[in-house]
Amino acid sequence: MSNNLINNHKLQLSKEDMKAYGYQVIDAIVEHYDTKHNKKPVASGSREEMDTLFNIDVPNSGTNFQDVFSFVVNKVLPNSTIVSHPKAYSFVPGPSNYVSVMADTLATGFNIFSGGWAASPAAAELEIVTMNWLLKLFKFPTKKGGGIFTSGGSMANLTALVTARRQHCGDDFSKAIIYMSDQTHSSNIKAIRVLGFKKEQVRIIPTDLEFKMAINKLKNAIAKDKLEGYHPFCIIASAGTTNTGSVDPLNDISKICKAENLWFHVDGAYGGAAILSKTGKTYLKGIEKADSLTIDPHKWLFQPYEMGCLLVRDHRWLKQTFSEKPEYLRDIEGNTSEINFYDHGIQLTRRFRALKFYMSIKTFGLNAFKSAVTYSIDLAEQVEAHLRKSSRWEVISPATLAVINFRYNPINKAFDEKRLDSLNQDISKKIVASREALLVTTVLQNQVVLRMCLINPRTTFKDVLETLTLCESIADEIVKSNSVSKNQFC
Ligand SMILES: Cc1ncc(COP(=O)(O)O)c(C=O)c1O
Repeated sequence: MSNNLINNHKLQLSKEDMKAYGYQVIDAIVEHYDTKHNKKPVASGSREEMDTLFNIDVPNSGTNFQDVFSFVVNKVLPNSTIVSHPKAYSFVPGPSNYVSVMADTLATGFNIFSGGWAASPAAAELEIVTMNWLLKLFKFPTKKGGGIFTSGGSMANLTALVTARRQHCGDDFSKAIIYMSDQTHSSNIKAIRVLGFKKEQVRIIPTDLEFKMAINKLKNAIAKDKLEGYHPFCIIASAGTTNTGSVDPLNDISKICKAENLWFHVDGAYGGAAILSKTGKTYLKGIEKADSLTIDPHKWLFQPYEMGCLLVRDHRWLKQTFSEKPEYLRDIEGNTSEINFYDHGIQLTRRFRALKFYMSIKTFGLNAFKSAVTYSIDLAEQVEAHLRKSSRWEVISPATLAVINFRYNPINKAFDEKRLDSLNQDISKKIVASREALLVTTVLQNQVVLRMCLINPRTTFKDVLETLTLCESIADEIVKSNSVSKNQFC
């Protein structure tokens, strides 16, 4: 590859150079896909270490292409956790898929503007088509319903809440009250803050023993607010909480929303994709009654970052909320069936997100996605059965939509709660420090527990067993070293 890129004011490469560059990038990605299971999933680095590696003044003159590329492949990429690694169990993994990676590459390569119909009718049409697939899947009204792809679940929740407020509150929302459970994802609180609601306008409803919103407590809170002259306007239900995969009682909440004229938003960013499986469908009963529903294809629909999605029962709600017409967009208004997605959400300039969803589903077929989701749910149940048989492990929340929480608590030891908390925290710290698996803790009912989110269809039962065996030997070491240090003080 020639080195005529340096100080090239057109920022342009020759055809041969573009190909040579591109082949190297693709080779690096394919190599990563082919070998990542042999790598360690966890990356770590202090600010000091990263500064030492990367912090330079802006380079006014260029550098040889090969040097820049090699530096990125050898230093930048390995310093990131592999969220699609089979042993990345924490947070919500990002399993992704190669077809969508290529689709994203095409969308970026052609730099398609996915804001308005006139600029790219095919991009807008594919967003309509894929949105219709999703509306059908979730049994939303297909004629009237609508939606939009966003950067992620947080943006989808924000878009939903702006719409809810516009439809139910108008300009004065000073008395409006929003209800959610203590397990609701933090992005909803962020969205509420962005929207200018005060803390006092949010009611956090406690959850029951299964981490689901307690319906009686919700009803009481609404009744009390009405008595005090407030305006209850929206309930946010979770369809798959991030902590435990629990699904709030969607049918009950929908009835309350109907009776009280409240907006029913469902945050299905984590669990919504489970609709593809038989078990998931049962869990998610009532989801079809939501006014707005967040799903997050860059999680369990296997898309690379960034791709979230908001579905609404009535597409006009989005247009009524987000349509703003600057003069320079007058000429491209088009007819009403030709959707300008900049009128349906916050962004004007938008990348072509629908392409990766479209290409991956068309290539693999929806049945492959169904099998992948079903596999994850089954795997978590298999892990639960294994843990329940063991005398060392205690299941704290059962396998639900591919999430399971458990802790090390050997029957023959009778550790107190404080000791169990520190033991499980230390197991997690040490396994993460070993970089062999990404397995961190969460807190459930004041207990420190290990949480596994098993949505990666390339994670095997053997992977999980290896991780649990490693945890057990780490636990043995901790217990042994603690008893040695205790004896030293005796
Ligand atoms: C239930 C839930 N809602 C919202 C979000 C936020 O989604 P994103 O990270 O795509 O913005 C998450 C992320 O984990 C989630 O689990």
